[in-house]
Amino acid sequence: MSEQPGQESVLDFLAVPVLRVEEETGRVLSANAAARALPFSLEAPAPGAVLDETGEPLPPELCPVHRAARGEPLEGALFRWKTPEGERSFVVHSRLDRSRSPGVATVSFQDVTQWRRAEADLLRALGARDTFLSVASHELKTPITALQLVLERLQRGARRDTGFSGPQVAERLEPALRQVRRLGVLVQNLLDVSRARNNHFDLDRERFELGSLVREVCERFTEQARHAGSELLVEDCPQVEVHWDRLRVEQALSNLITNAIKYGAGGPISVRAERRDGVVSLHVEDRGIGVAGDDHERIFNPFERATSGHRVESLGLGLYIVREIARAHGGTVGLTGRDGGGSCFTLRLPAEEGYG
Ligand SMILES: Nc1ncnc2c1ncn2[C@@H]1O[C@H](COP(=O)(O)OP(=O)(O)OP(=O)(O)O)[C@@H](O)[C@H]1O
Ligand SMILES: [Mg+2]
Repeated sequence: MSEQPGQESVLDFLAVPVLRVEEETGRVLSANAAARALPFSLEAPAPGAVLDETGEPLPPELCPVHRAARGEPLEGALFRWKTPEGERSFVVHSRLDRSRSPGVATVSFQDVTQWRRAEADLLRALGARDTFLSVASHELKTPITALQLVLERLQRGARRDTGFSGPQVAERLEPALRQVRRLGVLVQNLLDVSRARNNHFDLDRERFELGSLVREVCERFTEQARHAGSELLVEDCPQVEVHWDRLRVEQALSNLITNAIKYGAGGPISVRAERRDGVVSLHVEDRGIGVAGDDHERIFNPFERATSGHRVESLGLGLYIVREIARAHGGTVGLTGRDGGGSCFTLRLPAEEGYG
């Protein structure tokens, strides 16, 4: 049977690469425009360039064109192609027409590279969320258990009328209060994430002097830093009037300082502020484990953590909340590695609303 007139030009209209190959030999009889436009060969790939779905390199006889030429119907099989521009994924379909001799196999290659990438990103995000759920429930449970123990002990004491003095009760309540504060922070973070995701991150702006806020927040963390072996220093903090949401900025700075303490490996931590061209920059610098270049963007997404061997108390929310606070103020937050290890996080906010 002869080629039907116009069939080749119809194939040229398709965005999907299509090859027509001879039965047994695998010789290419025609390639449509989309196949010809590819900067690599579909029919004679370089050795090791074609991989199966799991990433195993395939010998030439198992590559799609050879399989199709042998009459093996391919119905949506996935192949990965190593190309000079990176890896591409194709879903391959083939059909062998034996109404002529030798027969002709038509093989189509649908490029699904973008979808596979989107799928991998989605799976990653889902995985991060699953981990988050288990860590968050553990984090909620720990303070509740500790709180219950303290309260039960106090109740037993009261029942036996052991006559605890006021200071004794106060002392026993201290760990309970610590746990309540921890629960409060956790629930606040969860609320903030859901607000940010629903675009309800509203600001309550007021005028205040930044220097005193920075010193106040740092003082609050001095003890905790010392406990971790770190010295927390406020360097250069000029007097600067800002029009920001004070509580939110306190929260952002606290999140950055908490991270510097947590990941700072007991090294010194410095906090610095500067004002240039109407933009105020707040730097929090540590000499700890640092963040690998590949993770610099990712760690600002919700539930994302970079360190391996995750600590249980790490939920991956802190930096996301900092980023949302920065955005709500019309600013940014970024990370630069420090020479010699460690990280420097910088929060940049316009001093005035609508500025910068
Ligand atoms: N100063 C830092 N040095 C090294 N790695 C850091 C630093 N700050 C953050 N990271 C990395 O970024 C990840 C995300 O930080 P983020 O503050 O969002 O979450 P977290 O600290 O894990 O948990 P939490 O929700 O309690 O803040 C951390 O898990 C850690 O891997
Ligand atoms: Mg954190």
